[in-house]
Formats: sequence, C-alpha cells, structure tokens
Amino acid sequence: MLKHKHSNLTGQASSRIILAIVMVAEVALFVSCKTKSFTQLEYMPDMYRQMSVRPQESDPSAPSGVGMRQPPAGTIPRHWQPYMLSLADTAEANATNNPLPPTAEVMAAGQKYYSNYCIVCHGARGDGLGYIVPKMTMPPQLFNDKVMKWSDGRIYHVITHGQGLMMSYASQLLPEQRWAIIHYVRALQRAARPTEEDLRMAKMSPYTLEDDLPDTAKAKLWPEK
Ligand code: HEC
Repeated sequence: MLKHKHSNLTGQASSRIILAIVMVAEVALFVSCKTKSFTQLEYMPDMYRQMSVRPQESDPSAPSGVGMRQPPAGTIPRHWQPYMLSLADTAEANATNNPLPPTAEVMAAGQKYYSNYCIVCHGARGDGLGYIVPKMTMPPQLFNDKVMKWSDGRIYHVITHGQGLMMSYASQLLPEQRWAIIHYVRALQRAARPTEEDLRMAKMSPYTLEDDLPDTAKAKLWPEK
C-alpha cells in the first residue's frame, strides 16, 4: 500500500506533530477548565473593555458620579408629542379626533396591538372576558352604551391615563399605536352591535368574526374544572 512506501523518518515526524497537537489541545482544555470564574484569555479585549458607560455603572466625570444621566429639565425626545390633557380633562379629550384613517394597514396594526395589550383583560370580542377573568375583576364591555358614544379621543384618554383598575398604557404604546387600537375597538363594537346594513353585508361575506379572531382567542389558557 502507498502508506508503507513512505520512509520511516516521515512517519515518525508526522506522528510527533500529531502528538504535539494533541498535547496543545489537552493543555488548552485543562487551562480553560481550571476555573470558570474569570476569563483566562481575552481575544480582542476592546470588545469587553469599552470606554462607554454601561447601565448602572458609575461615571466619575458625571456631576453626581452616576453613569445614567437625567435628560436636561424641560427637554423631550425628538418627534415626541407630549399629551397635554390631565386625567380630569375628559371634555377636551372627547373633542379630540383620531388622526389616523381606518385603512386595512391601520386596522391590522390595531388588531395586533389590541391582541398584545388589551385582549388579556377585555377579551377577543371586547366583551370583558379576557384570559385573566375571573382572576381579576371583569372589565366593562367595550361596546357598552357609554363607550359607543365616546369619541376616539375619549378612548385615547383612557389608554393614555388609565382608568380605575386599568393602568396607563402610555409607556408601552406609541400614540399612533393607541389610535390604531381604537379603530380596531370600533370594529369590535360594530361586530357586537351590527346595524341592519352590517348584517346584510355580513351575509354576503365569506368571512365571519370567528375567522378573524386572533389565534390566542381560540386557545384555552385555563383548564376547565
Ligand atoms: C389589566 C387589565 C386591563 C388591560 C390590559 C386593559 N384594560 Fe381597559 N379596563 C380594564 C378595567 C378593569 C377597566 C374598568 C376600569 C374602571 O373604570 O374602574 C377598563 C376600562 C377601559 C375602558 C373604559 C370602559 C368604560 O366603560 O368605562 C376602555 C375604553 C378601555 N379599558 C380600553 C382598553 C384598551 C384599548 C386597552 C389596551 C390598550 C386596555 N383597555 C387594556 C382593564 C384592562
């Protein structure tokens, strides 16, 4: 066979090389296994040791020595619109209109954010039968007479400030996401309290509300007793 035709010397040299590789690998294995509490070798250490101040780190150059700084008083992030109405300004809120048109894209976004943030309490149909009920007090139906009469701005007011047991969603949802949700809430209202015309149109449609409910609405989260 070809292998046996090599000289003895070449054979010895190659087995030495293999041995050396095995030894180096073994040493590397032991060194890396010795302790896990600190890194033995830092490859490209500037990835770890940066000039930037990380969250919770101190910064001697900061006035208070605290790394995380407060924005200067009276400043707001770029493009951020402050909500000027206080909780009690319900009449002004009621006079505010939805700046978004109810396009298919907006409705899809509304459904998505409703499913992420509201469904858990208000339920897929807005009937107050969210997964959390009855572990938490059942919220009112979003198609009750009061909310049906409210303007979009008044619903926006509730999402932004919260109401009673419901907390504010201003920190989780951008203004346009809140407005999109309201269009979707209007669709849920219409599904729950359809007009004669809506019913007539629904009969001609191949779809039902059930087809359109998010998958999460069909899942059973709590086992039945
Ligand atoms: C943690 C549960 C919970 C979540 C999540 C929640 N709500 Fe509520 N919501 C409530 C409860 C409870 C009330 C009744 C509060 C009260 O008046 O005491 C309420 C009230 C409301 C009302 C006023 C209804 C009325 O008849 O006064 C609207 C509108 C509303 N929620 C919309 C939303 C929207 C839109 C979302 C998603 C962005 C949302 N809620 C998320 C629990 C929740």
